[in-house]
Order: sequence, then C-alpha cells, then structure tokens
Amino acid sequence: MTDMLFMWDDSFLIGIEELDHEHKGLIDDINKLHQELTGNNDRSEIKRCLGEIYVRMEAHFALEERVMKVHEYEYFNEHKREHDDLLESFTECMMQFLNGADISSKNPIEECLRQWVVDHITTSDKKMSLLVQERVAHSTDSWP
Ligand SMILES: [Fe+2]
Ligand SMILES: [Fe+2]
Repeated sequence: MTDMLFMWDDSFLIGIEELDHEHKGLIDDINKLHQELTGNNDRSEIKRCLGEIYVRMEAHFALEERVMKVHEYEYFNEHKREHDDLLESFTECMMQFLNGADISSKNPIEECLRQWVVDHITTSDKKMSLLVQERVAHSTDSWP
C-alpha cells in the first residue's frame, strides 16, 4: 500500500472549485514528498518535491488573496498573515534541508504542512469561502 500523509476526503472541500482543485494538487505533492521521505529518501528527489510545493503554495496563496481582495473579504489581513507565516516556516525548513540538514518524515516540515492542510484549509479557507460565496450570492459581482 502506498504510504500517504493525507488521504483526500470531502472534509477538505471549501466549495470554490478553482481553490479546491489547487488544494488537491498540493496534497498530491505533499504525499509525493512523504513517500520520498519514508521510501527512497533520495536528496535530489526531495529537493525537487520541496521546490514544487513551494512554487504551488506561493501561487495558490496569491490566487486566494486575489479572490479575497476582489470580494473585499473583511478578514483579509489575518488570513494573509497565516499565509505569510506558513510560507515562512516552510521556507525555513526547506533552507535547512538545502544547507545539508537531514530530514525525515518526523521532520518539522511535515508538521508545518500538516498545519497548513488540516488547520488552515479546514478552518480559515472554509470560513473565507463561506463569506465570499454569500457575498457573491447577494450581489451582482461576477465570479470569482
Ligand atoms: Fe487555500
Ligand atoms: Fe488560505
């Protein structure tokens, strides 16, 4: 059986198709990293996985922030702060690895990714999605 860190299930859905699609893609990447950490543990593959996660995470946060701005989301600042903190802790872990540190599946990098997936998507992203969708339903705004 393939070793997965996160099994995608509907509890991760926030109801905005584009963002759900990106969350799925990111969870796939995180599972690839996990497999590499618990399997081959090949440094160049791990480096590639980390780079991919970083790029996708940064692009995803930018898209979400654009959606929040367009719909004048009232909790924009605190949501953006969570994104910045997550990206910062991920970057820190990634830099440690690139500077030669050993990482394993018990590494803080997976804890950081778990925090993002479990806490951020299921609480902050869901809260944002609900308010944004409500706003769209009651206005003439086009989507997204
Ligand atoms: Fe998100
Ligand atoms: Fe978010």
